[in-house]
Amino acid sequence: MHIMDALFGDADFETSKEATALIGKIIAAHNLQNSLLYDLGSCWGGFVFGIQTACPGLQIVGVDKSRIKTWLARLRSLYHRNQNFPRFLKADIFDVDVSKIDLAFVYLPRPLLPALEAKLQKDLKPGSLAITYRVNFPTWRPTQIFVTDLKRRERNNIFIYKKINKILTFDKLEFRK
Ligand SMILES: C[S@@+](CC[C@H](N)C(=O)[O-])C[C@H]1O[C@@H](n2cnc3c(N)ncnc32)[C@H](O)[C@@H]1O
Repeated sequence: MHIMDALFGDADFETSKEATALIGKIIAAHNLQNSLLYDLGSCWGGFVFGIQTACPGLQIVGVDKSRIKTWLARLRSLYHRNQNFPRFLKADIFDVDVSKIDLAFVYLPRPLLPALEAKLQKDLKPGSLAITYRVNFPTWRPTQIFVTDLKRRERNNIFIYKKINKILTFDKLEFRK
């Protein structure tokens, strides 16, 4: 089971094109279009390449525990080169250093969210954003929620969390769109 997990990972779902385009606009609205983004659980790189097209100035690192997915994402990156072509790390998201990143993107199985919230709360720098798609953190309150799909509403929402100071405080809810 451990070998299968290391080779193939799990949860092969991709962020939709509509959601990726909207996340590009959200990143630009926060003036973070030239910043460092980590896709925590990058799978085959679908979100990474989509968001790179939307925000070509981003530096992007995809992290996935699956060796095969990481290899394939690296292969795909040969066809998606621009001046900031993305890097892909084969690693467990709980082992990577997130202390220097500006944006963490998260679309992961829900059971991972409590431990990931604790890690990001400890390590993310003030001013950075965490953006989740379809899943939300258990105790943080999002600063913004975007609906990407009116038919399926809650299921396909995008949640924005902003770390605003050193003492682990996140903004209170501002508005709902
Ligand atoms: C739902 S996919 C997300 C794909 C991509 N981020 C997107 O939005 O299109 C989740 C990915 O997380 C990976 N994953 C799950 N647990 C992980 C962990 N602990 N460390 C690294 N990757 C993990 C899985 O292998 C899978 O490829």
